[in-house]
Amino acid sequence: MPASIMFEVLEQLPPDPILGLSQQFQVDPNPDKINLSVGVYQDSAGHTPIFKAVKQAEQQLIEQQRSKAYIAQAGDADFNRNISRLLLGDALVNDLGAQLGAVMTPGGCGALRMGGELLAQVSGEKQVWVSDPTWANHFPLLQSAGLKLTKYPYYDFQTGAVNFDKMLAGLRAAQSGDVVLLHGCCHNPTGADLSEDNWDELIELLVERQLVPFIDVAYQGFGHGLDVDAYGVRQAVKACPEVLIALSCSKNFGLYRERTGALLVITQAAQQTAAAVSHVLAAARRNYSMPPYHGAGIVGHLLNDAQLTSDWQAELSAVRERMNLLRKALSDGLNQAQDKIDFSFVAGSNGMFCYLGIPREMVLQLRAEFGIYLLESTRINVAGLSETNLPVVVERVAELLKRSA
Ligand code: LMR
Repeated sequence: MPASIMFEVLEQLPPDPILGLSQQFQVDPNPDKINLSVGVYQDSAGHTPIFKAVKQAEQQLIEQQRSKAYIAQAGDADFNRNISRLLLGDALVNDLGAQLGAVMTPGGCGALRMGGELLAQVSGEKQVWVSDPTWANHFPLLQSAGLKLTKYPYYDFQTGAVNFDKMLAGLRAAQSGDVVLLHGCCHNPTGADLSEDNWDELIELLVERQLVPFIDVAYQGFGHGLDVDAYGVRQAVKACPEVLIALSCSKNFGLYRERTGALLVITQAAQQTAAAVSHVLAAARRNYSMPPYHGAGIVGHLLNDAQLTSDWQAELSAVRERMNLLRKALSDGLNQAQDKIDFSFVAGSNGMFCYLGIPREMVLQLRAEFGIYLLESTRINVAGLSETNLPVVVERVAELLKRSA
């Protein structure tokens, strides 16, 4: 065999903390294994279904499509317009006019990365403040764009809720021109969200200190509803002169593998937005040229059609209500089965995730002894629970807690 030229110097990297665990789950021979790791919705049969309205929109799109030629660099115009309206509401989008720019991206990750590249183009050292804790992939996505990340206090491990006073106090150390990464709703990994009053107060601070919000919206409709979940984003856009938004359609349209998302850029002037968008397009061109079309085509088409939109909304509501029932059943079940930890906070979390707050070694025990997979941070995917596996999870967690004396 010829000698290696360059790749022998590479060392194997550890697996991704979220996707790697899911791979590990796939090859676990335990017939009773339960996957509560990666954020993917599962129905009561353990399947991740395609929303019926999404499937219908896809069929119509395929039927109508006459060409696979390139589309505009910024993406599908229907998608960009409709997704902006879904998030911000018609009135705000109309008010903003050309101050709002939208660029279609490969999923929410693509949007975060393109937002990071845009920020890196702006002169001066850009400090991005991220919640402690935050989604694991925020770090590699933004740091590799050349940004410096600092954590601000967010989650209170004692109460299982946001420690808002500490958050504000932490953010008071930010300098004018710093960026604050926020989770629009359904905080990943904790499920602990800001209240509307919290958002109002936070936005006052952002305006006063000239901090730029970069809002990650990956779960619109998974918390309390499409409009309620957009409260913080809409208020921020109304009040702050400059806002970046990373949007994902993976969860609320169930389009995970299609990599569908958008970066929204809001500035004080149409000309500034156009300039910012030109930098995003250049960043996209040098990274991947342009994003995949299929998922965005489906969403753009679906949201153009009133009937499909209302069908999709009804399905999304059913998904949300089911997750809420599971969350409540988990909280009640755990409280009934043991008395070491009060799990009431679980019922107050939003969206797909929450922390269990059990000792970390129990996470490893759950995996090794029972094939129950959650992240080492104790984050569980509530949407991976089902009427069948929930009692098992409750029993196993309670058993380990009781054993720990
Ligand atoms: C998650 O947090 O599990 C999801 O957002 C999937 C991912 O890409 O990490």
